[in-house]
Amino acid sequence: MDKRFSTRHVRQRDLDRILKIEEASFGADAYDRNLFAEYTRKCGGLFLVAEWGTEVCGYSIAAVSPGTARNCAELVSVAVDPAFLGKGAASALMDSTLRRLRRRKITRLGLMVKVTNHRAIAFYKKYEFRKLRRVARYYEDGADGLSLAKDL
Ligand SMILES: CC(C)(COP(=O)(O)OP(=O)(O)OC[C@H]1O[C@@H](n2cnc3c(N)ncnc32)[C@H](O)[C@@H]1OP(=O)(O)O)[C@@H](O)C(=O)NCCC(=O)NCCS
Repeated sequence: MDKRFSTRHVRQRDLDRILKIEEASFGADAYDRNLFAEYTRKCGGLFLVAEWGTEVCGYSIAAVSPGTARNCAELVSVAVDPAFLGKGAASALMDSTLRRLRRRKITRLGLMVKVTNHRAIAFYKKYEFRKLRRVARYYEDGADGLSLAKDL
């Protein structure tokens, strides 16, 4: 983990900054304010931000999966401000998320990623996520998704 970044629970006042990071990262596919507000309420303990000093430079959201086995969680989203890419912010968020999930006795973390998102796939590969399946036309733009999972 990169020691220059600290992580903490999201606060309501982080939402403006998170929305900027989201729009810069995902463009038309960005989550909106209402969805982030809902995640703030629903998975507070697993909705994290990474800070460089006092500047929020990335966020991640994990959720204990409803309707599946109690010991499974899903990585809903992770994104880093383009100005901070490649400096370890996402790794700090992932390390912190994995620690929190293990403390809750979660044994598996799953996620979905676009097949064309090579940077994110390289990131998940570093964390030894394995491919479960490819889901045709999972995304609104018609792109396939890759379902990945990691045992904790
Ligand atoms: C994927 C993402 C979250 C990674 O964030 P980051 O802070 O740049 O990642 P880190 O600096 O912690 O890098 C961790 C590892 O990811 C991989 N990685 C990160 N950027 C990479 C790149 N441009 N090319 C190849 N591998 C890369 C490397 O394995 C890296 O480990 P290393 O530094 O030891 O080589 C970031 O690129 C991002 O926000 N992308 C846009 C949003 C997105 O696609 N989110 C994922 C949706 S499923």
